[in-house]
Amino acid sequence: MAENLVVSRSQSKQERYEELIPQLRALIENEPDTIANLSNIAAALKEAMNFFWVGFYRVEGSELVLGPFQGPVACTRIGFGKGVCGSSWKEAKTIIVPDVDKFPGHIACNSASKSEIVVPAFKNNEVALVLDVDSDRLDAFNDTDKHALEEIMRIIEKFL
Ligand code: SME
Repeated sequence: MAENLVVSRSQSKQERYEELIPQLRALIENEPDTIANLSNIAAALKEAMNFFWVGFYRVEGSELVLGPFQGPVACTRIGFGKGVCGSSWKEAKTIIVPDVDKFPGHIACNSASKSEIVVPAFKNNEVALVLDVDSDRLDAFNDTDKHALEEIMRIIEKFL
């Protein structure tokens, strides 16, 4: 496995994702443990993309339960259909929220979070976990993030 990440901070967001994704593949190659892989992916995303908060919530029965993450401490459990994460689970699709104060039912784990993207991963055609990324800036996420993070979730699905 790769031992450190090559990150070029001067590059565009698209270029940084393009640099990161092959490294993520290498990072999880030959490692079947889900927690280990999610932990390294959260750390790599934080380091490469400088996100305020990035982490996973796993589907456990009728709730999402906090998984590996990087950033400030966060809410541990989120109900089906609740907040942005629970909505992404219910709708089984990526949700971009440019201004969290305008999203009805948004769950504020940290008052510094201003915008958010949540991307689901699937196992047997059902949502198995979601990736949540928060920014301390408004309108921080766009289609570049959606496409790259969805590609990362396809990598994750291989070891779920
Ligand atoms: N804001 C999320 C909750 C998780 S934290 O942001 C880490 C939501 O509304 O689902």
